[in-house]
Amino acid sequence: MKEYIIHNEWKIIEDQFHPEYNKITESLMSLGNGRIGHRANFEEKFSGETLPGNYVAGVYYPDKTRVGWWKNGYPEYFAKVLNAANWIGIDVKIGNETLDLFTAKVLDFKRELNMQEGNLYREFIAELPSGKQVKVVSCRFLSIVETEIGAIRYTVTALNFSDKLTLTPYLDFDIRNEDSNYDEKFWDEVEVNVKPGEGYITAEVRKTLFHVCTGMKFNLLRNGKAITYSADVENRTKFISNIIPLSIEKGESITIEKFGVNVSSENFPKEKLMTTAVKHLNAAFDKGFDQLMLEHSQAWLEKWKTSDVKIEGDVAAQQGIRFNIFQLQQTYTGEDQRLNIGPKGFTGEKYGGSTYWDTEAFCLPFYLATAPVQVARNLLIYRHKQLQKAIDNGAILGFKNGAALYPMVTMNGEECHNEWEITFEEIHRNGAIAFAIFDYVRYTNDWEYLAPYGFEVLLAISRFWAQRVNWSAERQKFVMLGVTGPNEYENNVNNNYHTNRIAQWTLGYTLEVIEYLKEKHLAQYHGLAEKWGFNEHAETANWRDIIEKIYLPFDAKRNIFLQQDGFLDKDLKKVAEIPAAERPINQHWSWDRILRSPYIKQADTLQSMFLFEDNFDKETIKRHFDFYEPLTVHESSLSPCIHTILASTIGYEEKAYEMYLRTARLDLDDYNNDTSDGCHITSMGGTWMAFVKGFGGMRVRNGKVSFAPLMPGKWTAYSFRINFRNTVLEINVNKNTVSIGNLSDQELKLTIYDQEYFIGGNKKTEVQLKLDRNEH
Ligand code: BGC
Repeated sequence: MKEYIIHNEWKIIEDQFHPEYNKITESLMSLGNGRIGHRANFEEKFSGETLPGNYVAGVYYPDKTRVGWWKNGYPEYFAKVLNAANWIGIDVKIGNETLDLFTAKVLDFKRELNMQEGNLYREFIAELPSGKQVKVVSCRFLSIVETEIGAIRYTVTALNFSDKLTLTPYLDFDIRNEDSNYDEKFWDEVEVNVKPGEGYITAEVRKTLFHVCTGMKFNLLRNGKAITYSADVENRTKFISNIIPLSIEKGESITIEKFGVNVSSENFPKEKLMTTAVKHLNAAFDKGFDQLMLEHSQAWLEKWKTSDVKIEGDVAAQQGIRFNIFQLQQTYTGEDQRLNIGPKGFTGEKYGGSTYWDTEAFCLPFYLATAPVQVARNLLIYRHKQLQKAIDNGAILGFKNGAALYPMVTMNGEECHNEWEITFEEIHRNGAIAFAIFDYVRYTNDWEYLAPYGFEVLLAISRFWAQRVNWSAERQKFVMLGVTGPNEYENNVNNNYHTNRIAQWTLGYTLEVIEYLKEKHLAQYHGLAEKWGFNEHAETANWRDIIEKIYLPFDAKRNIFLQQDGFLDKDLKKVAEIPAAERPINQHWSWDRILRSPYIKQADTLQSMFLFEDNFDKETIKRHFDFYEPLTVHESSLSPCIHTILASTIGYEEKAYEMYLRTARLDLDDYNNDTSDGCHITSMGGTWMAFVKGFGGMRVRNGKVSFAPLMPGKWTAYSFRINFRNTVLEINVNKNTVSIGNLSDQELKLTIYDQEYFIGGNKKTEVQLKLDRNEH
């Protein structure tokens, strides 16, 4: 763990220069607007540790899969989100010395991410080897109103000298992905246009042929007043700049306001890309930095109105939840059905920017409750659009009759993971996609989603499960062999409880959906059955048989379900016995040792307990938690959130709080020593769930929303809002009362600690806070 980030309710603050943590801070303070994003790299040159990162949503490169021995069924490529043009760069030269915080003496330094208004601020005083001292203040943002645009205001003040000052704003498209397999570059130049004051480069991605045009335009001010300047234009392959010679007197300030634009052929015609970029950039430039920033900040304040979570009495917890919400909002806005949520969002290259089960299992609930219904629906439609490819993927692996195996890792519907042993057999992802349909309908009441979209996906997934199990004559049960559960520290196991359980559940849910369609949309149902050659009688009879006879590993002595066959053969030493210096084990132990160990990377059997909690009483959940939690190392970011919710459910308040901090501050405190690669964006949806479902006790059952708030000891109050079926609710909890306000006009029936209430439009209800929610 690293604890150098200053605790603050609305800001992420680094108040002194930590070059050794620079890559972590660059990840934490990343900016994004759903279309473009970048890491918090410095504008001026930096020769220390840095991971330059600029990303454009939806633009990727299919890098050749790198394996020793090829086997049938391997994906052809691993998709990589592309590191795109660096448009923020501004080189600064004083006399003949280049400003570089790695070689200069840093006398004062502050870097701040302002989450309330969505900007990145930095100020520092640096002493160059010659003894000249310079102060720099910079502020930048990526507009969430004009989503092609970013802007920087960068001011240099001469503190103790007068000299020549050369500013070189540039645009660099000669970028290599850090994870490029053969050190290959993925961009080729298509068109360049540069003159004093502005410049553009259009580049093409090899193989996928996406085009991106990036542009810059700037103006200069001396002591706050606009000045004219002359510039030498530089134009090399994939790189353009303006070299601007200036002079600066002691005490004077020179400011450059640099505006950037990024447009891609995903959204505009290729042949008009540069003219489109010019148009957008000119409009932004004419509007000016202050106005653009004002509109952007106001839009952020609006976003916070619906999604903020307030915690009183615990700044670390407050900062954590806001950081998670802020990063989620920066990553996905839900306007484009082709986009999804990469595990690192716009904060790094790891995981290739692809879509994982993370979206359905961890992010969907956040968007369901804080955004218009269309946003969550678009996330579901993304998978519906990829159904045929999931069926093709199933066919490649030998499945028939329209059985779909959704990819574990995908950009466009095709499987593109690059880790056969671990990732490929994680077929539980199919279950997460099915469960998301159920969760969406349960939350929104949008049953109309099922006939045109949901059913087809459920049918194809059910067909997959029905073929993936086999009958074991020995056990007289259906078994599922050779899978990897959510716990990636076990590969290729038999009868993973979670996978078998979610398969069983999917079959059951699909049967329910069929009954609904037959009742309400019979003609459409018949059309769909014909389209997919669905032999309802035979196929559903088989599904029923599987539901009844699927094998779920169980230990009668401990009275618990087992994660997989043979789990009890392990040496069940608790995590607490691992020496601290050997954690995280994935950075210290061999893979062989990890696979043999009893250690669980992330909630696995407990993932099922969370999803299907209504099937278990609290004692059962507790028994499972007591068995699995001491063996869980939480080395996946997706783990502590689930443990927070379960710990809250069974009244383990301290554990819930510990796990909450771990999920909410996972990146801020670098718990797993991997934030330098980028932030764990998808787990941030889990953090929101940990708060709202864990402490807030929010559930949706039988068409009604319910709450059962808990108050962690350290907190004095908290509040959050949710949007449930067009009704906005504000939940305020303090040490004595739970107050729920209905901010809409229509009344709503809901449940608080098992009691039903009607809350009229624009009215609120107050009840006593229960110290232990289980006491009733
Ligand atoms: C987790 C997976 C997850 C992936 C991407 C892995 O570390 O174990 O469950 O899908 O990261 O977030």
